[in-house]
Amino acid sequence: MALVSAKEMVDKAHEGHYAIPAFNINDLEWTKSVLAGIQQANSPAILQVSEGAGKYMGGFKTVADMVRDLYEHMGITVPVALHLDHGTYEGAKACIEAGFTSIMFDGSHFDFDENVTKSKEIIALAHSKGISVECEVGGIGGTEDGVTSAGELADPKECKAVAELGVDFLAAGIGNIHGVYPANWAGLNFDRLDEINAAVNGKPLVLHGGSGIPFEQVHKAVTMGVSKVNINTELQLEFAKATRAYIEAGKDQEGKGYDPRKLLKPGSDAITAKVIELCKAFGSADKA
Ligand code: 13P
Repeated sequence: MALVSAKEMVDKAHEGHYAIPAFNINDLEWTKSVLAGIQQANSPAILQVSEGAGKYMGGFKTVADMVRDLYEHMGITVPVALHLDHGTYEGAKACIEAGFTSIMFDGSHFDFDENVTKSKEIIALAHSKGISVECEVGGIGGTEDGVTSAGELADPKECKAVAELGVDFLAAGIGNIHGVYPANWAGLNFDRLDEINAAVNGKPLVLHGGSGIPFEQVHKAVTMGVSKVNINTELQLEFAKATRAYIEAGKDQEGKGYDPRKLLKPGSDAITAKVIELCKAFGSADKA
């Protein structure tokens, strides 16, 4: 199978009450480790790339070629979409050209009318090529005295307006935060999620900042329209922890321990193990 648009897998997850995991990839090892994990879990999945990671890996075309070639070389059979994460207007267009099968246009920092105008244009362009689109609606942040204890909350009316543009899935803040959650995090705001879910009339929702949200909260969110959960930080932490343990045990001093194929293996294996765990936790395992 070739790389696919994310629409069908996310729609199926929405109907079946589970979530498609969207794993951020940062390099070759990350990509191989995530592909190995989703194949072992027999899970459909999204591999997503931020613009910064795309630049780091040698540009969007390099990323698209690498993911396609690894998909084929590793004999992957589960459905995989290659998605741009938090794309700018220019970045979204560049990824459509580069062969991505899904893109996010994040216009949440524009004023609402401009977000709508640009989202509409990107949706039309992507859909003309069979590429799925995620857009984001901005929200009120939960920072007080410089301390963030709650994430942004999106306005249900704005969510409804963007859903009606024909976007395939919608990112809307419900108290979620990227990165490690602060100890005093207030948790997901299910009242707001309920209002947003009612307003978007069956449009699948995306939960950003998926790392570290207790699984019970993710499960509850899935019953209320969330069908894609983004994971980046958790894979980075696993990679760093395993690599550090390898070095602290002095293994890099043994034989050819400095060989990147050896040095990066514990971290890569840790990513694969975490990917399998999350596919099971989100209910996407065995849904390929
Ligand atoms: P985390 O890094 O918190 O997992 O968030 C990832 C994400 O939402 C990418 O858009």
